[in-house]
Amino acid sequence: MLELRNIRKAFGDCVANENVSLTVHTGTIHAIVGENGAGKSTAMKIAYGFYNADGGEISIDGKPVNIRNPHDAIANGIGMVHQHFMLVDTMTVAENIVLGAETGSAAALDIEKANADIKTLSDDLKLNIDPRAVIEDLSVGQQQRVELLKALYRNADLLILDEPTAVLTPQEVEDFFSILRRMKEQGKTVVIITHKLDEVLAISDEVTVMRDGKTVGNVRTADTNAQELARLIVGRDVLLRVEKPDASPTNDVLKVNGLKVRGKHGLAVNEVSFAVRAGEIVGIAGIEGNGQTELIEALAGLAKSSGGSIEFEGREVTSRSARELKELGIAHIPEDRHKRGLLLNSDLFENAILGVHYRAPLASGGMLNSAAIESRTREIIKKFDVRPGDATQVARSLSGGNQQKLIIGREFELNPKLLLVSQPTRGVDIGAIEFIHRKLIELRDSGSAVLLVSAELEEVTALADRLLVIREGKIVGDVDPKTTSVEEIGLMMTGG
Ligand SMILES: Nc1ncnc2c1ncn2[C@@H]1O[C@H](COP(=O)(O)OP(=O)(O)OP(=O)(O)O)[C@@H](O)[C@H]1O
Ligand SMILES: [Mg+2]
Repeated sequence: MLELRNIRKAFGDCVANENVSLTVHTGTIHAIVGENGAGKSTAMKIAYGFYNADGGEISIDGKPVNIRNPHDAIANGIGMVHQHFMLVDTMTVAENIVLGAETGSAAALDIEKANADIKTLSDDLKLNIDPRAVIEDLSVGQQQRVELLKALYRNADLLILDEPTAVLTPQEVEDFFSILRRMKEQGKTVVIITHKLDEVLAISDEVTVMRDGKTVGNVRTADTNAQELARLIVGRDVLLRVEKPDASPTNDVLKVNGLKVRGKHGLAVNEVSFAVRAGEIVGIAGIEGNGQTELIEALAGLAKSSGGSIEFEGREVTSRSARELKELGIAHIPEDRHKRGLLLNSDLFENAILGVHYRAPLASGGMLNSAAIESRTREIIKKFDVRPGDATQVARSLSGGNQQKLIIGREFELNPKLLLVSQPTRGVDIGAIEFIHRKLIELRDSGSAVLLVSAELEEVTALADRLLVIREGKIVGDVDPKTTSVEEIGLMMTGG
């Protein structure tokens, strides 16, 4: 049993945790839910010794423990998989797992023994991971399992998983949950942070709800439901379904003709043709890795195409740069917010004008206009509810969902004629999802064209007016999401 009592933690003026108390029973799966910035990651990083609390106690099986760093946590059988993976891309699975775990020198490291041990662990839980594989060749789902192995290799009895499913496909989520259930059968304890209420209901035994840095509720999963959880989390009723009027599309804004884009392994986009009109949301459904990333990057000017053409408002724009396309009125909300969306070590002012800092009124005569930058930043923070709203902090210190709201706000402020948006609500809390969905529909209804990629089949089918299904770089379906079942779309996605 792991117990947190009255944990407190502040970062400068920001109180991230206050009176956080929760009990995780051994052999159970315990969910932690709450809005972006509620303090979930902070509380769990304290249990893992990544941060030290300013006050409060941690005990294991009734005995107070002093967890000053992750070493202490590991010694107490606690492991953690962070919200963002911490693997070295160019090294093998075994090298990543053993790194930091071996006590001896690197020379003494017995990689063959490590390979064998990891293979056994992997087989035990049916993780299907080859210890000799290089990380960059693995899918996101596989990398996740490597992170699990890393914790298990260090003999963790209690695993803390911070939004483990945010980047997984629906099939991967199911496989992952089977793994968690097997771990539970073996007597392990799991703490899982997630924003997805259906997952909470499917996998957990107990739920703790956090709000504004505090633990505000604890319920048995069997005794609750999605509506009630949503209310506990946000403090009001939440619309869990998207409600939107029919679209009234007009002229073609984007026309893609026979587009080809090379990826890591050959053609990622293979002669794709489609159009997006003003006033409609066109969704792209597909299992991740079927060309959607490369397609969006080519449309945003971030990747070169190797055939075909792209037309924007009747003009050929195939080889234009990202900046030129932005000038024409194309905004882009990227799937990888850390790599493409933000300067993590810069403040919110810089991030609010990223990519458009040279434009009037943000700059004039080659000089930045700090008053204009300040008011643009405040506008985004206010309209998109970025919390905490202190613009002098660095983007890295924002919680994941608030980073996403900042990017969305920045791109919406450009009043784009075409918005390219990938995974808009990944890692975002239910209240903010409702908000982002409403904003996307408002943008559509103001006459913009929206091209939406999401790994959440429910999200694309709910938001899109027209749905394209992509498989192995080709469009294999163009359907009306209102009249096509999720099962049918799923079959097109997998080619079944
Ligand atoms: N290293 C840090 N420096 C400064 N502030 C921080 C730091 N880490 C977290 N915070 C702040 O503490 C609060 C809680 O953040 P935390 O990451 O724990 O939220 P969360 O519940 O995990 O949110 P999300 O669902 O978005 O991941 C937020 O206001 C955040 O901005
Ligand atoms: Mg978090």
